[in-house]
Amino acid sequence: MFLIETARLALRRMTTDDAAFIVRLLNQPSFLRFIGDKGVRTEEDARRYIEEGPLASYGRHGFGLFLVELREARTPIGICGLLKRDTLEDVDLGLAFLPEFEGKGFGFEAAEATLGYGYGTLGLEKIVAIVSKDNAASIRLLEKLGLRFEKTLPPTPEGTEILLYVPGGLPSQSMRH
Ligand SMILES: CC(C)(COP(=O)(O)OP(=O)(O)OC[C@H]1O[C@@H](n2cnc3c(N)ncnc32)[C@H](O)[C@@H]1OP(=O)(O)O)[C@@H](O)C(=O)NCCC(=O)NCCS
Repeated sequence: MFLIETARLALRRMTTDDAAFIVRLLNQPSFLRFIGDKGVRTEEDARRYIEEGPLASYGRHGFGLFLVELREARTPIGICGLLKRDTLEDVDLGLAFLPEFEGKGFGFEAAEATLGYGYGTLGLEKIVAIVSKDNAASIRLLEKLGLRFEKTLPPTPEGTEILLYVPGGLPSQSMRH
């Protein structure tokens, strides 16, 4: 049932039953600012988003964004997973948490386990991350995971500068063994 378990968290595939949680998460100010507006306002929108996003990705690539729950309580707190975008050569790490669960180390815990799953279970060679230039929390998290800044990508249509982070430090390299 769970794909990935850590000390405090369990990650599983999303289903359309997670629509109410997805509406909440995708409309948080931090999500809208740092990831973007997916136009998901209703549970019906969210079901479509889950089908066309994560579920389509599981089918096409065998991975995608997973739902992150507190392991004991089974409370959904965020999403974390792997994406293969047409616009990027490599698979990238994506994650977002509800504000009340930020700053507790859950992001690091989920991301570290997801990279381990990607390199170990899936056998991926390289996992990168993209992040808005002004997303200090995410940049700190990526550096803690052992990723390093490689280059600035062309700005989005909204003019946001996006940074590409690539494997380069010890933690993510050691996860390959
Ligand atoms: C980015 C995000 C996933 C981080 O998750 P989190 O659970 O809050 O992160 P953690 O608690 O594991 O902290 C990781 C590191 O970042 C640091 N950090 C957290 N919030 C920070 C902030 N606002 N400014 C600077 N550093 C911050 C932590 O202190 C920690 O570093 P440390 O161990 O050296 O102290 C979370 O803030 C989030 O969901 N943001 C909204 C969506 C988003 O931006 N997603 C990323 C898109 S690339």
